[in-house]
Amino acid sequence: MSPRRVAVTGATGFVGGTVASVLSARGHDVVCLVRRDPGPSFPWATRVVDSADAASLAVSLEDVDAVAHLAILNDFHRIYADRRAGWDGFVGLTRRVVDAANATGATVGYVSTDWVFDGTGHLVTEDEPPNPVNYYGVLKAASELVVLERARSGFVARVGGVQGLHQTRDTGPRSQDVGFGYFVLALVDALRAGGRFTVWEADDINAVATPVVSPEIGALLGRAFDAGVEGVLHFAGGTAVTRRELAHATCEVFGLDAEMLDFQPPPEEAWLPAPVPYDTSMSGEATMARLGTRTHSVVEQLDALRRELDEGTPVPLS
Ligand SMILES: NC(=O)c1ccc[n+]([C@@H]2O[C@H](COP(=O)([O-])OP(=O)(O)OC[C@H]3O[C@@H](n4cnc5c(N)ncnc54)[C@H](OP(=O)(O)O)[C@@H]3O)[C@@H](O)[C@H]2O)c1
Repeated sequence: MSPRRVAVTGATGFVGGTVASVLSARGHDVVCLVRRDPGPSFPWATRVVDSADAASLAVSLEDVDAVAHLAILNDFHRIYADRRAGWDGFVGLTRRVVDAANATGATVGYVSTDWVFDGTGHLVTEDEPPNPVNYYGVLKAASELVVLERARSGFVARVGGVQGLHQTRDTGPRSQDVGFGYFVLALVDALRAGGRFTVWEADDINAVATPVVSPEIGALLGRAFDAGVEGVLHFAGGTAVTRRELAHATCEVFGLDAEMLDFQPPPEEAWLPAPVPYDTSMSGEATMARLGTRTHSVVEQLDALRRELDEGTPVPLS
């Protein structure tokens, strides 16, 4: 049975905004849990909560059937500079969301990452044990365990190589980094503006992934809530690609000139203060079978992103 009201944490952010948009378009009554009022132009209903307080979170979940939990302290440098803040901004926050959901009977859908893996696998399946190589991955793996071991009802949905538009900000996130996300629009922006684009290639960056568009994450969360699934899910695209392959596929789908691509290691300022997993590709086949859909190829993902750019509305594939 489809949950009537779904709360979304992190809806002022990149992925959470698209999740709120897609769930809302699919008929869920979406309420975004925010820590400050985002103002009247924010497209979905909001509730201001004190996310440091499980009781405040529980009040906000009283009439809610499910919570899509995406909020994190998303600052790689800050979590290294202040590890306690990092722990609380990922694991503590997830624990409070889970405790609030347990108190009110809501299901928790936790959006996690392919960076829980060490990057030595290829198309890893849902039962592959995490082995993070940096603190971000540690914090996400620990948060996964909170959901898996503590939530009365819930699941973990790993995503990676996320491509998409921010729903409530005009700009970003659109720059290439040593992770795989945002890559496509960074390339499209550069080539559409008549410039060249340098595709980063190196052994110590995230070089292989299974990209997925952000609306697909919203669609799959909706399916997972509807199906009442538990455990670990992989919301992965159907094609494992290198950055070079993704760049060429992007040029094909967006009608751009691949001659304008260069291939170089990243500049020094792009490096993170920690190791980065190399191949974070995941298999989503078992998950998609559980959710009654299929994986979508990189060309399908890119075409959905192109349509979102042209039409201004997120295009979920499932
Ligand atoms: N982006 C990717 O490529 C990617 C890849 C894999 C996994 N993910 C996962 O997807 C989720 C969302 O990522 P994102 O890229 O969309 O992040 P983002 O754009 O940085 O958004 C983070 C969100 O979390 C909220 N937040 C942070 N700390 C909070 C707190 N203490 N209490 C309440 N809300 C808080 C922020 O609210 P404010 O507006 O108030 O700051 C914002 O809405 C994360 O769990 C991330 O691990 C993302």
